[in-house]
Amino acid sequence: MLEKMSDFFEARLDGYDEHMMTCIESANEFYPFTARQLPTAENCHVLDLGCGTGLELQEYYTQNPLARVTGIDLSQGMLDELKRKFAGKDINLILGSYFDVPFGENLFDAAVSVESLHHFTKEEKLALYSKLHAALKDNGCFILTDYFSLSDEEEQMHRRNFLALKAEQGICDDEFYHYDTLLTVKHETEALLEAGFSTVEVLNHWGATYTLKAVK
Ligand SMILES: C[S@@+](CC[C@H](N)C(=O)[O-])C[C@H]1O[C@@H](n2cnc3c(N)ncnc32)[C@H](O)[C@@H]1O
Repeated sequence: MLEKMSDFFEARLDGYDEHMMTCIESANEFYPFTARQLPTAENCHVLDLGCGTGLELQEYYTQNPLARVTGIDLSQGMLDELKRKFAGKDINLILGSYFDVPFGENLFDAAVSVESLHHFTKEEKLALYSKLHAALKDNGCFILTDYFSLSDEEEQMHRRNFLALKAEQGICDDEFYHYDTLLTVKHETEALLEAGFSTVEVLNHWGATYTLKAVK
């Protein structure tokens, strides 16, 4: 059964961090790797899209304890847990969808997103990435660590399966439902370039989990 995105994560809050770190292959490598790509200047401002409980921030705060972070997430439970873990840090948490929340312009030194954006189509991401591009300072970068389809066929299969499940369950609203519809790295890169990023580079990968760096 498809579940609404925020309900899905609220229901899995208990033991979420342990699940991610023990059941997701290479999590112990890609979280620290992602954090190491973020700026080290004191007081720099980082936007985290789909921050969850902040697994990507754990390592980042070790290397940059004074970083300022704005995190956006649909799940109040995830944000509460993040706040508890990083009490005393300069964090602005926003409950909402990163598709709807205004980001502002020229505000962030960098943005990051880990394992959150693989639920959306290229078309849905285009407007989001344009908004993100405008929100970054000149030369700011977006570090994206996420799951990807390894072929066009796989990408199409995920989409078909998702639409079939929606039809089967009679879902026709525009709400977000939890289902992994992974793009290929090629299509993700195209969305970022079409949104205005000047370069997109693959920094690393662990199986189907890739880290991409897009520079404004
Ligand atoms: C698998 S968790 C990843 C959380 C964290 N980045 C990590 O790696 O542990 C995906 C997160 O994305 C959030 N999310 C999904 N769609 C979202 C949206 N449209 N706007 C904001 N957050 C969203 C979910 O609520 C969830 O907390």
